[in-house]
Amino acid sequence: MIEMPVITMDGHAGSGKSTLAKELAKMYGFYQIDSGALYRTYTYFILKYLNENNENEIISEEIFQREEINNLIKNLKINIEFINNLQITMVNNENIEEYIRTPRISENIKAVADNINTRNMVNDTLRNLAGKYPIVADGRDMGTVVFYDADIKFFVTASAEERAKRRFLEFKEKHPHITIDEVVDQIVTRDKDDEKRPVGALKPAKDAIFIDTTGKNIKQVIENIIRYLQGSTSLRIKNFLENISKA
Ligand code: C5P
Repeated sequence: MIEMPVITMDGHAGSGKSTLAKELAKMYGFYQIDSGALYRTYTYFILKYLNENNENEIISEEIFQREEINNLIKNLKINIEFINNLQITMVNNENIEEYIRTPRISENIKAVADNINTRNMVNDTLRNLAGKYPIVADGRDMGTVVFYDADIKFFVTASAEERAKRRFLEFKEKHPHITIDEVVDQIVTRDKDDEKRPVGALKPAKDAIFIDTTGKNIKQVIENIIRYLQGSTSLRIKNFLENISKA
């Protein structure tokens, strides 16, 4: 029996779910879990392997037929740690966060996220954290697959225009040559890939609460989410909120 609450936060790229998860971590002491970072980690290490072996750095479905690739991902020691309740993805004891958020990784992530073995490994890593911490897990299939028995599930949405604008602003700092059209193309492709995925496809859980972040600031959205938490019938959520109000 898990005594710590689990909140899930699924949604499209750029919908604001990870910002909301981080804010809940900062303000309320939940532990933020970023499932996308794990798919990014596997993608990063496969690309690194291809690069080191002078191979074309493109990941397709067929790559998982290669034994050395399967061994590579099986042997990666991925560990989730937390700093100020925010996820730090560690591989073989090294913090790899700064390497995994590049357009190159986003472009190659589809085959990795479609692969059933990778999904099972990611899901096992995440489920191991439940019960140890009060978690807010963001991703695509947190409420439908990984934590289908979560205490409360949110499905975060925003208009495609606003999501593209947010991603563009994020990317512009590190990748000054990227254009808004390229970002729109990436978002549209990723939406399609995420919704059509054979396993773990992005869709709202039947019992998900929809949160639309279009045109809203973070404070307004968090206030709304907190109202849902306060109205939750889950004992784990009630106990958690009661404990933090006493602290
Ligand atoms: O959340 P983020 O954009 O970092 O995720 C990167 C990619 O990882 C997504 O586009 C999606 O393809 C994949 N992903 C997934 N399931 C999750 C989280 C992410 O398939 N739960």
